Amino acid sequence: MLIYANGSWVEAHKAVVPFNDQGFLYGDSLFETIRVNHGRAFRLEKHMDRMRSGMETIHMAGTDLLAEIPGILQTYISKNDLDNALTRIIITRGITQGSPWRSVSDPALYMTSRPISEPEQWPVKVVFLEEKNYPILRFHPAIKSGNYLGNMLAKKDAEDAGAFEPVFVNRDGYVTECAIRNVFFIRDDILLTPSLELGVLPGVIRDTIMELAERRHLKVRETLIIEDDVQEMDEAFISSTGVGVLPITWDGFQSNYHHSQILREDLQKLFESGDLNVT
Ligand SMILES: Cc1ncc(COP(=O)(O)O)c(C=O)c1O
Repeated sequence: MLIYANGSWVEAHKAVVPFNDQGFLYGDSLFETIRVNHGRAFRLEKHMDRMRSGMETIHMAGTDLLAEIPGILQTYISKNDLDNALTRIIITRGITQGSPWRSVSDPALYMTSRPISEPEQWPVKVVFLEEKNYPILRFHPAIKSGNYLGNMLAKKDAEDAGAFEPVFVNRDGYVTECAIRNVFFIRDDILLTPSLELGVLPGVIRDTIMELAERRHLKVRETLIIEDDVQEMDEAFISSTGVGVLPITWDGFQSNYHHSQILREDLQKLFESGDLNVT
């Protein structure tokens, strides 16, 4: 596999990041995971908008670099002969010398990919974990930064507890999102998802699901959901570029996943169709 490493195409096992790269040293970086279906990047513009917003939020110079990404990604797809895959684009603040907060170079761009792997069976189990026990970066607007230490620690704790993914609850008792996914609930035929004002990531698939739900005449509410209320929900699922719509369960929760299954199939069809937008 060929990796794009800031201007060079290199074999994956030979690709290196400079030792004084801010992303490597301080997690001073942003990333996007983009789904490639039949050689086409799904909703690339939305990923680029989110990256631009992240760069602006953390005052990372060099947004011009974003204009180069679609072309480089296309070359990446053809050089690696990708059909279906998850590509990862990373932008770091580049090289630093002396004081850590003084970068001396333009941002650096990296591109890699991995196969799409989805659980074979659903619903998958989740556990509700308290955010205060993990070093999670919450910012408004949310940034998809390289600081995923808290997310990864929680993911490991969830897996050690026999679950697929954690669902976080913040200090005020509100459900926010998962370690690497958004979360949705359905009650009385209304699709509910935690509001972005909580600092949750505006997932590309989260947006897509809300569009698909409207097409199915489901009411959609971005709102505040308290943990105490989740037991009263009719359905629940998580969402991401990797898993699409994935129904969830937890101790004591039962559902027929009626709407979840329809949305899962609608999204799967959209991926397969090669269309980039919900029409
Ligand atoms: C914390 C977090 N929330 C939500 C998501 C889902 O985002 P998307 O739908 O763009 O994959 C991700 C994806 O990486 C994530 O890391």
